[in-house]
Amino acid sequence: MFIEIKNATKTYGAGETLVKALDNVNLSLEEGRIYVILGPSGSGKSTLLNMIGGLDRLESGEITVDGRDISHADKKKMTQYRREDVGFVFQFYNLIPDLTVQENIEVVSDISKNPMDIKEVMDALDISKYSTRFPKELSGGQQQRVAIARALIKNPKILLCDELTGALDSKSSRNVLKFIDKVNEKFHTTIVIITHNEAIAQMADAVIRIKDGQLASCTDNQQKVSADGLEL
Ligand SMILES: Nc1ncnc2c1ncn2[C@@H]1O[C@H](COP(=O)(O)OP(=O)(O)OP(=O)(O)O)[C@@H](O)[C@H]1O
Ligand SMILES: [Mg+2]
Repeated sequence: MFIEIKNATKTYGAGETLVKALDNVNLSLEEGRIYVILGPSGSGKSTLLNMIGGLDRLESGEITVDGRDISHADKKKMTQYRREDVGFVFQFYNLIPDLTVQENIEVVSDISKNPMDIKEVMDALDISKYSTRFPKELSGGQQQRVAIARALIKNPKILLCDELTGALDSKSSRNVLKFIDKVNEKFHTTIVIITHNEAIAQMADAVIRIKDGQLASCTDNQQKVSADGLEL
């Protein structure tokens, strides 16, 4: 299995304020598939994604990616994993305010071994016309598309998206999701998308449901719908 999560546990706080953000989660993800994570606010979705992306560490349990234990890797190996293998779209974008749209994307492509074509990515996400603007001069949806471009430009093995289309209208959402489908098909990228939109779950190969830090289910989609056919 490509990504193997075993007995993953993470708690925040202590005593009365203790929260089990991840409560003994076991999950296996296959390479080249699209997964959608659904679950109520506060259920542990972002925590799980951060762990898969090597942004945070488990309290106990283990995560292996392609046979490598990333949950116990040293700092250098973690950085290398994040830089080379993972593209991350954050819930709150995390664009660099002092860099233009194009520069925000270039900081990633410049250090990538095998980046995609910047023009192709910017065109596909419909942000070429904003290339010289700064993040604060963009709407939320435009910023979100820049964040997606930045995650994709390095052509990562694993693409992790926290609220991929949260700030987008249905037309922009469809365009972004179509591009995601295309990337998955062309590069066999393993993609995990957190969303509150049940409709998006239809384009996944499998749907993961999280509740109170626990895995409620992980079910293969019998009738996968391409992004084109989603009712958003
Ligand atoms: N740094 C932190 N310190 C304390 N508690 C935290 C921290 N990060 C997350 N939590 C708690 O852990 C639980 C899971 O949070 P998480 O962000 O994973 O939820 P989520 O499913 O992504 O929610 P949302 O849909 O609102 O983004 C929540 O109860 C949250 O309050
Ligand atoms: Mg979240």
